[in-house]
Amino acid sequence: MEICRTITACRAAAAGFRATGARVGLVTTMGALHAGHMALIEAAKAGSDRVVATIFVNPTQFGDPADLDAYPRREADDLAKLKAAGVDAVFIPEASEIYPEGDETIVETTRLAGLYHGAVRPGHFRGVATVVARLFNIVQADAAWFGEKDYQQLAVIRRMVRDLHFPIEINGVPTVREPDGLALSSRNARLAPEDRAAAPVLHRALLAADAAAKQGATAEALDRIIRDTLAAEPRAVLAGLDIVEPEGFARATGPLTGPVAIMLSATFGDILLLDQKEIRP
Ligand code: PAF
Repeated sequence: MEICRTITACRAAAAGFRATGARVGLVTTMGALHAGHMALIEAAKAGSDRVVATIFVNPTQFGDPADLDAYPRREADDLAKLKAAGVDAVFIPEASEIYPEGDETIVETTRLAGLYHGAVRPGHFRGVATVVARLFNIVQADAAWFGEKDYQQLAVIRRMVRDLHFPIEINGVPTVREPDGLALSSRNARLAPEDRAAAPVLHRALLAADAAAKQGATAEALDRIIRDTLAAEPRAVLAGLDIVEPEGFARATGPLTGPVAIMLSATFGDILLLDQKEIRP
């Protein structure tokens, strides 16, 4: 596995793969890799000939500097996992490589970035779109894989790729969960034990909404069921709950006439966790 710390080295590695006619797959990460990331790598390996992974804790998508500082960094462990998974090259740049001095260019999906989770974390999706656009431009992969857990992030990336005509295929990968239903996230390791025990309430709330939808519940009824489920868990503080149509992200109202996506986030202590489920009536 090639380890590239500069854009020049990463471009050379990816160009070398392309020169052999290989289809190049990309998985972008912020490190602290868990089984959810490894599912992305597995999907990328199945869908391409060569896989490039990136590890970059992107400062521009964090609103709170303390959150950025606290983000886990486990380079040696991450590299070992990527190598064992058969990744061909990994790009681990410094922030100054991605954001050169005097940097002033941003990428923003102007509508989607401000909606829902974007309203809870202003600037977050601008940071995500900006870094992902730069990574796409550096690696020039044929396809990239992203987790569906970060549902709005995936929508932002799809929209950016469409609007900016990036020649890359975007694939979503289903959320990987702990046996008790908690969606895997690098943030889970930072939960206090009591919060870790409480956190599966997010998944329980989504399952309750799914069951109600199958019985004909309206979007408003699903909203109430999720709020009530969260309210019964005193350690969970609801941060965001949005029930949207998967295509345009319009808020769903009234009886469900087709699939909807539920995007849910809550804090446990000072840790914000996200979960998501697409449901069908
Ligand atoms: O999902 C993530 O880990 C990050 O938001 C991403 C896509 C790697 C951009 O920094």
